[in-house]
Amino acid sequence: GSGSLNARSYILVIGGLGFIGSHTTLELLKEGYNVAIVDNMSNSYESKFTSIQSLAKQHWTAKGGKCPDLKLHKLDYRSPALRTILGRYVIQEPESSRLSYISGVIHFAAYKSVEESTRSPLAYYQNNVSGLIDLLVLLSDFGIQNFVFSSSATVYGSVLSKGGKPVQEEQLIHHETAHVDGQGQRMTLVPNVGGLTSPYGRTKYFGEAILADVALADPSWRLTALRYFNPVGCEPSGLLGEDPRQKATNLFPVVSQVLVGDRASLDVFGTDWDTSDGTAVRDYIHVMDLARGHVAALATAGARPADFAFRAYNLGTGTGSTVDQVVSCMQTAAKRTIPVNRTGRRTGDVGFCVAATDRARLELGWETQLSLEDCAADTWRYLQSSGRVAV
Ligand code: WQD
Repeated sequence: GSGSLNARSYILVIGGLGFIGSHTTLELLKEGYNVAIVDNMSNSYESKFTSIQSLAKQHWTAKGGKCPDLKLHKLDYRSPALRTILGRYVIQEPESSRLSYISGVIHFAAYKSVEESTRSPLAYYQNNVSGLIDLLVLLSDFGIQNFVFSSSATVYGSVLSKGGKPVQEEQLIHHETAHVDGQGQRMTLVPNVGGLTSPYGRTKYFGEAILADVALADPSWRLTALRYFNPVGCEPSGLLGEDPRQKATNLFPVVSQVLVGDRASLDVFGTDWDTSDGTAVRDYIHVMDLARGHVAALATAGARPADFAFRAYNLGTGTGSTVDQVVSCMQTAAKRTIPVNRTGRRTGDVGFCVAATDRARLELGWETQLSLEDCAADTWRYLQSSGRVAV
């Protein structure tokens, strides 16, 4: 036909060559889904595409099956050309109802630096919020309704008090209903969310509120927000690792820079938190577990009842680890010492942020399988394979 694909359904992965997007694309292919990636290449490399393809082919060869299809469209998801591309995937049958060949969309493409968002809020609102709105309008034109949105634990803000009473850090196990939740009721935008600490965090918060309102207006959608805690590690071959060349501010990439010699030492931000060893606690989730969470969310969305037309899920391990525990895990994996400076707290940090995991387990049938040690071992293997460490 006129450039139309034969009758197969595809998952559209926007930002599919990024750190989480590439791992999720690989998981989708291993689960037998055809994938169409849209990526503007602003924060990724074409070599990622060939790596995903070869890893997926290896998987299917070992299984004795046929590798699903993977396509790459190099363009910004906000470009008008996306409508033309969708037109090639979504076929309108003349007599029957629209037959959509995009059975689901995962949207990873967003700016994600907390610090940069404070300096350039308009760029963040334009890409992360206006971009989301325009994308949803486009998808509704094509009758595509299964949509997964990258959200973040940052929407929980730094809740310092509940019901006016100061809370101890340990109580900050975040449950989805603690905050933005569209379960059948109009979104309650809690006016002062603790201290939503950045424009970046607000773009995620507003994004979820938009999804919740769209779902309330038209419950035929299945809109899912996945709240990532701290994604780290990489798949075992190391081919999809997070490149330490970039300006790193997150803990694992900064420790990676120390290990490859790009930095002399790690600054530990704050040793006076109300935690086991005084350093801050986070919920570090292996990116492979995170990827599997996306596949589970896509697969279960259709079975959700109408008043779950919008639904948010934490993707975390439910276990917290301190900065010192991360450092000692990485030292064990790398069999070398990581020099640290113990300094003051970083602005905007909270001392404790860990996921409640029951909703994802009960409703997505998903839970994490990989440990902090796995994250450290996979990160170290990636650094070695990237030829950046003196063995
Ligand atoms: C983890 C812990 C730091 C660097 C951020 C974003 C959040 C989300 C995930 C997008 C903290 C400590 C860090 C260093 C340190 N991103 N640390 N020295 O801050 O939990 O979350 O990434 O959604 O929005 O805020 O992650 O890796 O920066 O910090 O001591 O050089 O490590 O204080 O306790 P964070 P992080």
